[in-house]
Amino acid sequence: MNQPEDSNDSGNPTIGSVVRARLRRRQFLKASVGAVAAGLGPLPLAGCVDDGAHPPRSGPIGGSALGFEAVPKSIGDALVVPPGYTARVLIAVGDPLFDGVAAYRDDGDNPGYARRCGDWHDGLEYFGLSANGRPDFSATDRALLAINHEWVSPAFLHSAGPSASPRPASEVDIETAAMGVTVVEIAKDSQGYFRYLPESPFNRRVTTLTEIEVSGPLRGHPKLKTRYSPGGTRTRGTVNNCGTSRTPWGTVLTGEENWAAFFARDAEDAARRTDAENYALARYGRPAGTPQAYQWNTVQDGSDRYRRWNTSVTGASSDGHDDYRHEIHGQGYMTEIDPYDPESVIQKRTAMGRFAHEAAAFSRPRAGEPLAVYMGDDARGEYIYKFVSDSPWDPADAAAENRMAVGTKYLDAGKLYAAGFHEDGTGEWLLLNIANPAVASYDRYPFADDGDVLLHPRIAADGAGATRMDRPEWSTVNPVNGDVYITLTNSSSRQLLGGDGGHGVDAANPRAYEDGSQDSAPQRGNVNGHIVRLAEDSPGSTRFRWDIYLFGAESDADAGLVNLSGLTADQDFSGPDCIRFGSGTDLCWILTDDNAMTDRSNAMMLAAAPGTLGDGGFLELDHGETKVVTRLGAQPGVSDLKRFMVGPVDQELTGLAETPDGRVLFVNVQHPGVGTPMGSAVRPEGYTSHWPGNKGYGPGGDLARPRSATVMITKDDGGRIGS
Ligand code: FEO
Ligand code: CA
Ligand code: CA
Ligand code: CA
Repeated sequence: MNQPEDSNDSGNPTIGSVVRARLRRRQFLKASVGAVAAGLGPLPLAGCVDDGAHPPRSGPIGGSALGFEAVPKSIGDALVVPPGYTARVLIAVGDPLFDGVAAYRDDGDNPGYARRCGDWHDGLEYFGLSANGRPDFSATDRALLAINHEWVSPAFLHSAGPSASPRPASEVDIETAAMGVTVVEIAKDSQGYFRYLPESPFNRRVTTLTEIEVSGPLRGHPKLKTRYSPGGTRTRGTVNNCGTSRTPWGTVLTGEENWAAFFARDAEDAARRTDAENYALARYGRPAGTPQAYQWNTVQDGSDRYRRWNTSVTGASSDGHDDYRHEIHGQGYMTEIDPYDPESVIQKRTAMGRFAHEAAAFSRPRAGEPLAVYMGDDARGEYIYKFVSDSPWDPADAAAENRMAVGTKYLDAGKLYAAGFHEDGTGEWLLLNIANPAVASYDRYPFADDGDVLLHPRIAADGAGATRMDRPEWSTVNPVNGDVYITLTNSSSRQLLGGDGGHGVDAANPRAYEDGSQDSAPQRGNVNGHIVRLAEDSPGSTRFRWDIYLFGAESDADAGLVNLSGLTADQDFSGPDCIRFGSGTDLCWILTDDNAMTDRSNAMMLAAAPGTLGDGGFLELDHGETKVVTRLGAQPGVSDLKRFMVGPVDQELTGLAETPDGRVLFVNVQHPGVGTPMGSAVRPEGYTSHWPGNKGYGPGGDLARPRSATVMITKDDGGRIGS
């Protein structure tokens, strides 16, 4: 479930026209999926960058096979795993995290959410603990979990649903506290199953009101000044926490994604702003006259903690130190938390740029080389980014005592790039700073300084000519060969020829179609999403190679234009979102957030054993009025890709972590029952899901309020998951 906005009207050229011009000069596979499946390798291309440097196809990354029975598609209100596996709920929204907090009740009367597990579980990371409570990255029976909480479901958080605007403070206090991040200790019980520890001193709740330091180049920047922090060095809270990343030194990065929706702007605010300010705010989805997502700003008691959600000019100052005009600049970062120290100061890592951060994936750390971090900006037509640290990696830092200082070393200084994809299977990283003339001279926005670029990387990437993508979500790196995978979940803006605010098809986003196999109204664009794969010679490279690892599709969709990966009924999926190479299972897990094949199946998780970039070939898609050439991965066999799990009704599966031995898998079930009208009181009979209460977790039974939750999956014989 997402509320992606669509504010990129930069007019960046699609490369479809370039592709068409060059078609004549090359020899391509005509749209013949069979030819690709037969294993034809990449065609030699004059324009390719070091294309012969691929390592051999690696197969399963650790030699694993997918040794489980594929789970069929399901629309039941249950979590389904393969025979021989068991899924158990570990912790759900509202569960107490601290001593003295009352057990969760099913009637919506659960005060004190800052001391309970938050709502809408999303990104998830595992941090091992030794028996004496020290960080131990190899620990398999005691650990901390960091859990992101992306949005809230007001219909289920309050006894009679949410009140209308102006919102009462009591309800807003619950909602603002139910978002953010949970850190919770887990340990194996006498049966060998993990349980969470409600009174652990490690437990922590970070909410939308927790004080956080601004770190990196934007610390003290004039556009960070607020009434709360006139020096522009602090802000309150982390908002709309989507995906996560586990740093090589044992901290969590939490991605602030659809934060823009949390700030109201008065209609009159446009007249109080410069043209540049209005342009930048609109480019980030906040034109004047937009409401706060939950109307938190409408609480009438005048307190600062509610007023801050309106980011309009209300003060008399010229620099904004007396109001919250700059409050929106305090969100939109990768924010670093040390889970091992509940008192540690949290830092917004501003050098990594401000956009709709989904998640992040680190390159394989190598001594003496910089660290690269690959990141998606999840909105229609937005970009893929890479951050490259100035500091070369020192392996000793993986075991440093002061983990936040290590974060400062690697994440506060570096270069930010956006990806430009070329039709020949190569691409380049476009530098986003004032030193790039295409950024400095961009005619739509006058950048004041490099800090302004980091506040507005979207605009800098527009100027630099980056490629508009079909909603970049999570990223992950294959630990065996370093290939980078980025999910592109779907885009209704992708069109065959572009126009009307849409984007024409191009090599990296080659599909635009009408989904005719859905029972409900047909959807248009890149309906089912795809997964792009990059490889580069070193983390600091400014060139890369790419292909499309997988195309989401229903198995009976057109094999020449839609089901390009040849998915079978045991593999078909739609809306790839979370993607993760497991550290213990040696498999790549693909989790979906789908609204296109939901008449056939709830959102699901698949296990994959991918090959290597370039193992498919080039394919020409004949769209009739336009043709586009793309480079795709080998079609997966049943041993390469298989459905592992399907979730309950109206949820998405997102966030994945493993024990280092691969014997326990943790997955988040986000927003079951989200199809229930969230803005009003609904009788329990009207909830579209009752999970997990209907399966015996917590109170409520068959009519329970649905709850976001973290589940753990084990194999009944105690073996490694998936193999
Ligand atoms: Fe929070 Fe893009 O999913
Ligand atoms: Ca979501
Ligand atoms: Ca997501
Ligand atoms: Ca999504």
